[in-house]
Parts: sequence; C-alpha cells; structure tokens
Amino acid sequence: MTAPFAERLLAWFDDHGRHDLPWQHPRTPYRVWVSEIMLQQTQVATVIPYFERFMARFPDVESLAAAEPDAVLALWSGLGYYARARNLHAAARQMIESGVPETIEGWAELSGVGPSTAAAIVSQAFDRRAVILDGNVKRVLARHAAVDAPMETAATQRELWSLAEAYTPACRPADYTQAIMDLGATICRRGTPRCDVCPVSEDCQARRQGREQELPARRRRKPKPVRERVLLWLEDGEGQVFLEKRPPSGIWGGLACLPVSETPEAVDRRLAELGFKPVDDWQALGQLRHVFSHFELAAEVWGMRVAPAAVADRHGEWHAVDQLVHEPPVGLPAPIQRLIRERGGAALGQS
Ligand code: ADE
Repeated sequence: MTAPFAERLLAWFDDHGRHDLPWQHPRTPYRVWVSEIMLQQTQVATVIPYFERFMARFPDVESLAAAEPDAVLALWSGLGYYARARNLHAAARQMIESGVPETIEGWAELSGVGPSTAAAIVSQAFDRRAVILDGNVKRVLARHAAVDAPMETAATQRELWSLAEAYTPACRPADYTQAIMDLGATICRRGTPRCDVCPVSEDCQARRQGREQELPARRRRKPKPVRERVLLWLEDGEGQVFLEKRPPSGIWGGLACLPVSETPEAVDRRLAELGFKPVDDWQALGQLRHVFSHFELAAEVWGMRVAPAAVADRHGEWHAVDQLVHEPPVGLPAPIQRLIRERGGAALGQS
C-alpha cells in the first residue's frame, strides 16, 4: 500500500530537502517573515545574499521599523518588486504598535502578507499546522490530482485550497511547508518535472495520464505592450550623475532613477523642468530594455553635461557615480544599477 502523501514527502525532505537555508538557523518569526517576503516571485539562490545583508543591517523588527525608507530600499536594490520592501517597512512599524502576530489571521493583517505567506510564516516560525498554497504548491497539487480546469478561476482556486487542506499533515508543520515548496522548486518543476525521482509520483494522476508536462494548463499570454522612453544621463563634469526620486507608488516606486522623458521630442523641455541648462549636445549612450509584469520598457539613454550651478528640482540629487557603483546610498532599480556600472566612471565625451 502506498504511504500517505505527507509521509513520503517528509521522508524525501529528510534526505533531499533544504535544511541549511539562512532563515532556518535560527528560525525566528522575524527572519522567517523577511525571508518569505523576499522569496515571493524570487528564487532561493537570488534571495540568500540579500537576506544576509538585510539581517546584518536590520537584525530585528525594531531596527527595521526605525530605518529610513531609503535605507530599506537600498538593501532591496536589484531584488525587484519594490512594493515588497515598502510593505515590509510598513509592517515592521505596524508590529511595533501591535506586537508580532502568532496567528495566520494576525499575520495576514500586515502589509504585504497574503493568506499563503501568512500560513508559511506561522508553520515555519511556530511549527504549527498551517496550509500554504503558493505558485509552486499549486503546480504540485494540480498535477498530483490532475486538476485540468483553468487555474485562474475562483472555482479552481477553491479546489486547490481544499486539496492543500487535505494533504497538509498535523505532524512536522514547518518541515512539511519547506518540503512541499522544495518539491515544487526542484522536482515538480514547471518545464521539466523530474518524475523519476519524485516521492509522490506513484499516485500522481497527471503522470498516470502522461500529462505532467501539460498540467497545470498555461494561460496564453498576450504580448506585452512596449513603452518607449528616453532616460536622461545628466553629468556635472565632476563625476556626478543626477538621479530623481520616483513617486512612492507605481513602477520603481520610491527608488532613485535617471530622469525619464516620455518622448525624444520632450527631452529639452524635461531638462528645463529640472532646472538645468545644457552645456553640450545630447549623446546617444545606448539602450535599456526591461520586462515588467504588464509592459516592456524600451528606453534610449541620452547623455548630456549640464551646468552644475543650476538648482535641480527637489525630487532629485547629484550622486557620485563611483559611490553608486560600489555602495549606493539609495535604492536603485536593477537595470539602472547595471547601466551605472557599465558606464562606470566614463565621462561623456565633449563635443
Ligand atoms: N518560496 C517561498 N518560501 C519559500 C521557502 N521557504 N523555501 C523555498 N522557496 C520558497
């Protein structure tokens, strides 16, 4: 007879799961919470160095709550989905007011914590049974039970929650949560599931039907609209570049960025709005493309040396390029950080 799903999964986890992740040692609520927020839409290997830097700077909820927003964003630079950092900071402040929650409902009231993340925190931090259903777990369950209805409907989501509820055991809650996430990430992968080494393949309905590659049914995605923009690389001739603070919400919210012009025709007007006078002509410095969840950014980068005496608008500041390359004092979107690194100290040629 086949052993229960959880029993086989936990036996596999003991031998093949991840036991040395930094947030597991020590596994405190604060560390688990920060790790779960970083791990949303982001892989473990990417998160680890960010997590370690974050813990070194903000070892507890008090230090995080007391931080300046820019210091939090600076440590998030390159990790993407920056609303997570803003929500994390807001939630730390909420916790200073009302304490660290111990229940799923309590965690789910905090900014940036949805029902599955709340359950992942409670199961790992308090070793208490809590049912999770993130993207990886949905894939595992949809295959194991051969759910072939479209994933995005409310009815399918309800079905998956009830499967998750039925599969989650009462024993070893923290390990089960990590085990099913590890199974989804390393064995029951989206593209090429490794059914030959899967501990629960024996009664996997998708495998039995030879449909493990095709389930869960993928949504056909429409091509993303392309937004064309011009990014302005403004130098003062003394190794500094001008960065503008983005509005708090929206794309790259709260991060520092090169000023953006909607069109090539508007660049001179944009320069005047910022309070700068041109010293040279514009120089084409290259292109930057970046894919967001709802559109693709296709930007040209134009450079210009500007008169440093002019006072820029109060949403921006001059920054030494060298410092931005080595130790940025502000949060920078990853593609902008890459662009700054690529340009390094190369000054604009003079015409
Ligand atoms: N994704 C979200 N939480 C995770 C965790 N604890 N381990 C691996 N992947 C995850």
